[in-house]
Amino acid sequence: MNIKKILYKALEDSFLHCDYSFDDITLTFSNRPEEADFQCNSAFAIAKKVHTSPEVVANSIIANLNQDVADVSFAKPGFINFKIKDEALSKALNEALANERLCLDELEEKETVVMDYGGANVAKELHVGHLRSPVIGESLARLHKILGNKVITDTHLGDWGLQMGLTIAQLKDDGYIDGYFDPSKKNKEITLDTLNEEYPKASRRKNEEEDFRKKAEEYTKLIQDKVEPYWTVYQEIREISVKRIKANYENLGCFFDLWYGESNAAEYVDTVVKMFVDKGLTREHEGAIVVDVAREGENIPIEKKNPDDPQLYKNPMPPVFLKKSNGADVYDTTDIATIYQRNQDYNPDRMIYVVDKRQASHFEKCFRAVKMAGISEASQKLEFLGFGTVNGKDGKAFKTRSGDTIKLEDIINLISDGARKKLAENGIVDNEKLALQIGVAAMKFGDLSNAPSKDYIFDIDKFSSFEGKTGPYIQYTGARLNSLLSKAEMTDKFDYLSSLNLIDVADENQRKIAVSFIKLQESYFTAYKESSLSALCTALFDFASSFSKFYNDTRILTEKQETKKNSYLALCLLILKAIKQAASVLAFEIPEKM
Ligand code: ARG
Repeated sequence: MNIKKILYKALEDSFLHCDYSFDDITLTFSNRPEEADFQCNSAFAIAKKVHTSPEVVANSIIANLNQDVADVSFAKPGFINFKIKDEALSKALNEALANERLCLDELEEKETVVMDYGGANVAKELHVGHLRSPVIGESLARLHKILGNKVITDTHLGDWGLQMGLTIAQLKDDGYIDGYFDPSKKNKEITLDTLNEEYPKASRRKNEEEDFRKKAEEYTKLIQDKVEPYWTVYQEIREISVKRIKANYENLGCFFDLWYGESNAAEYVDTVVKMFVDKGLTREHEGAIVVDVAREGENIPIEKKNPDDPQLYKNPMPPVFLKKSNGADVYDTTDIATIYQRNQDYNPDRMIYVVDKRQASHFEKCFRAVKMAGISEASQKLEFLGFGTVNGKDGKAFKTRSGDTIKLEDIINLISDGARKKLAENGIVDNEKLALQIGVAAMKFGDLSNAPSKDYIFDIDKFSSFEGKTGPYIQYTGARLNSLLSKAEMTDKFDYLSSLNLIDVADENQRKIAVSFIKLQESYFTAYKESSLSALCTALFDFASSFSKFYNDTRILTEKQETKKNSYLALCLLILKAIKQAASVLAFEIPEKM
């Protein structure tokens, strides 16, 4: 049973009776939890419409309200307060415990969603800028899934761009691939370390040496045309890189359905370009094929030098590039072709891109273009979920002491170091798996507690504390419950216990747990609507805290009265399950012990 829905229905019945509009129904959790669990503020708006006092309206609503699940009271000047009856809370909790998904509702209208996140670039090392996309994307994907959407996750590797040509140009200059060009010579082995050295070198050179950049552009085109030996070298680089990227993502608890990249869109590029050409949407610009996507009113007039000069405009929305002047594909091309490919394969209702917010205009351009060309139907939702920067404690982009960009692997090490220290304080040493589990939870919870679009401060000490609103606190609460239930020898009786309606909400602490549980279950939907996990993090923290208070105030294992003790234990079991359910969406583990 969903208590909020029951209350809502009771309000509808009463409103019908009083002849008030359903549009005016409001029902929220109470601002004063000491007095009430839910409140309805409808009387204020209705009173204005019917020219009477909120008190009169509120009382007429109350007079017609079914009070089976809650005691209802009036609070000046026009509030309606609901205090859920203990029996109703017990019933809701018992039902949840007996239900595999803890009675978590599903979305009324389910959708097929392609989720694009991760987005690592082949040949380039993963760094701090690649942290948030997999963290936010994975959790959002899991949230959609648990609420009933069909989700296809695709990491969309950056594997078709200039960095590939640059890397190969540098490998060639450094003699790694000589054997391909001169049979008397040998190739040198290319490893991950090689790539980590060669790409940064090449990236520096491209800004200083025009010839080198041109060569890299030429190689990029040769790769895209699958010309040997560039194609073979490209595939080798891709494989080395992807292996490492996979390992990093797995450490972060991220798993993708599709390991596609920009390169997988290549086979659709011709078809897609033709669609634009056939519709007369393309024009030539310095040899390149472009599509104008700017709309009326988006042109900014450029000040004329002479009054007789023609009026020129600066455009804040530059055109989409379908082909470079040398015929190569660019970032716009592959993203547009990928939308085509996803529609061929899955025809989703929505595509969600979890990417650095600085790429907003790239996506806006591509989204406009695919709508113009009919590659994406008008009703299909294309959403850009831009995330902010990870900052250091100084409020500036997170860097190493020497000012270099921080590698993703260093971050993973840093977070597990933090966890290792805390564990040592608790007497647990040499448990690397646990240190990683805690570190990942610390980092994820720290990130996901913020709205994605906000920058946030990466504060390892704060994130890895076992107290306060942190991932490790949630884990610690779960571990405590695990150990409590195993001491009570409940672990293997779980399923048996679940069906016996043992929970009997009987004191204020238990009421708080019950109400926090209802809030937690509702926060999944708030998180869904906001495309941000922060509501779930907050509700989960409040829920875990409500258990801590109960745990400190109650003797659970030594309780003499059998029914009482069983009620406590069944409640603890539900709490553990609810914590695990939320953690599974936030994509971190609840350890047995810590
Ligand atoms: N590889 C890109 C980058 O590092 C991110 C990819 C995002 N997804 C996309 N469909 N463009 O910036």
